[in-house]
Amino acid sequence: MKPLSKIWFNGKFINWKEAKIHILTHALHYGTAIFEGMRCYETVHGPAIFRMREHYTRFLNGVKAYQFKLDYNVEELIKITEKLIVKNKVKSCYIRPICYMASERLGLGMVENDKFGLAIMALDFGRYFGSKTGKGITCSVSSWKRISSTTLSPHVKASANYLNSVLARFEATNSGFDETIMLSEEGHVSEGSAENIFIVQDGEIITPPLYDGILAGVTRDSIMAIAKEEGYIVKEKSILRDELYTADEVFLCGTAAEIIPVISIDKRKVGKGKGAGPITKEITDSFRTIVSGKDERFGKWLDYIKYK
Ligand SMILES: Cc1ncc(COP(=O)(O)O)c(C=O)c1O
Repeated sequence: MKPLSKIWFNGKFINWKEAKIHILTHALHYGTAIFEGMRCYETVHGPAIFRMREHYTRFLNGVKAYQFKLDYNVEELIKITEKLIVKNKVKSCYIRPICYMASERLGLGMVENDKFGLAIMALDFGRYFGSKTGKGITCSVSSWKRISSTTLSPHVKASANYLNSVLARFEATNSGFDETIMLSEEGHVSEGSAENIFIVQDGEIITPPLYDGILAGVTRDSIMAIAKEEGYIVKEKSILRDELYTADEVFLCGTAAEIIPVISIDKRKVGKGKGAGPITKEITDSFRTIVSGKDERFGKWLDYIKYK
């Protein structure tokens, strides 16, 4: 990953190489961190961050649910992030805010004077699935179940959750698949290692509900809104494993992955087994038009960076 110039780190902009933490930092030992991932797109009107407000709302909801201490509101975080883009002089990038338990100590319980840190970094980040982006990816169904809400909250983008994703993803890539799809403890389709999932069946667009262990994805929400605007029936309902194998189209979505067609699952072809199906393609085209700043109907989703 190519380093950029500045990282916002605990109250100020510092040089990329100086953004460091101590080896005893609580978050490193116990996964006590909550983060976000969003994208700044190069649009026809200049750089713009996609649905930043929704990302920071999810972030602060996680901070509240897990009783982390952070003295910033959404508006303040937005202002810092806009400055970060200006300082790094980038047209497009991935943005990673992280709030972490910064106390340098062993021991699990949170205590009154525990310290929390906040960093926001801009990263030079291209396509998550590289050259497979337009062509589609192969998936397995993971032997690892998605964390259940009685263990950790799947709705909070907490670092601890991602060991579940890492295990699942590694199992898949080790067996020659590009990505994997996890099931919930109940056997319902949940999501990819870092993406939500949609299937298309008989012209209807279906995605698992929030209670099947998914992260409430901002891209997922955007796709549901786009598809409804285009006149499709969109359903949030539980999906069983065999429905993946017989779906007309399947695609994954997320900030990093954007929209990626799935061409096979457990070696069964999805549709013709080549590229995006017609509905996936239509939604992907609409999404790209929106993030290029060319669709006024969804203009409110873009926060334009003002260079003074
Ligand atoms: C586990 C998981 N599910 C779903 C998503 C998609 O969420 P979003 O569209 O908000 O990036 C992500 C990516 O952040 C993720 O890590």
